[in-house]
Amino acid sequence: MKLFSPAKVNLFLKIVGKRPDGYHNLASLFQTISLCDLLHFNLSGQDSLTCTDPTLPLDQNNLIWKATNLFRRKTGRHFGVSIHLEKHIPIQSGLGGGSGNAATTLWALNRLCGEPVSLEELAVWSAGIGSDIPFFFSKGTAYCTARGEEVRDLSALPSIPLWLIKPKEGLSTPEVYRNVDIDKISRKNPEESLNNFLSGRHDFFNDLEIPAFKVRPELGQFKQRLASLGFDQVLMTGSGSCFVCIGDGKIPSNENLYCQKVNFLNREGNNWYNLDLG
Ligand code: C5P
Repeated sequence: MKLFSPAKVNLFLKIVGKRPDGYHNLASLFQTISLCDLLHFNLSGQDSLTCTDPTLPLDQNNLIWKATNLFRRKTGRHFGVSIHLEKHIPIQSGLGGGSGNAATTLWALNRLCGEPVSLEELAVWSAGIGSDIPFFFSKGTAYCTARGEEVRDLSALPSIPLWLIKPKEGLSTPEVYRNVDIDKISRKNPEESLNNFLSGRHDFFNDLEIPAFKVRPELGQFKQRLASLGFDQVLMTGSGSCFVCIGDGKIPSNENLYCQKVNFLNREGNNWYNLDLG
């Protein structure tokens, strides 16, 4: 079985507060996009995981194995699986590549085992291995709250062409969250931002920019440079370091930058995300 595993962007991301368990409550509009990894699954005698990107750790900490072990544990099924990952989504970018891989793995294993589990249940299980994974079981546009795992599925938004621009250096999600200063977050009302988006008024922002720029000050300068190139909007996605640039700007020519034009991608019915239809 061969499946697309999409990336996501956060059209807005509001930090609501810090929780006693160390996580942060957030309120964010998530959207899947047409940048996808490809995952190949074969039920086989022995477990194996291979990847086109030699820098990606493939040990038991990889979310693909965490998802596989979660599915086996919860369903009590015993099987071996060989998985090959064609990596296209940059890592440490805030594009949710690893979370999408975990959701895609759960969806694939469920299909290959005759669908013993509902998508709703897979989504609830997946929150135990990563806050952003349940979102991918939505149709691709969702308002996510709590750690990110409370997902309100929304109708697809009209697609906006986006440029993804990422400097070479990535960012560690826990390190960015550790640098959140609750006194410095925006005073935005996320329900209002959501309503703005739903009525066609774009209201982009990301409260994780300030802590990310504290971790890597050069990223703040990078954002300013992108903003001077003519784009209507420039914002970081998730915990970075990828930026989303909206509108007609000049694409910087620098071989150390990752630049990719993408559109929104939503899934339909009980089908998984499909680039051919998107
Ligand atoms: O849930 P996940 O494993 O993706 O989170 C990675 C890290 O990001 C957590 O250990 C935590 O430090 C931080 N995080 C957070 N609040 C969230 C999501 C993640 O503080 N809502």
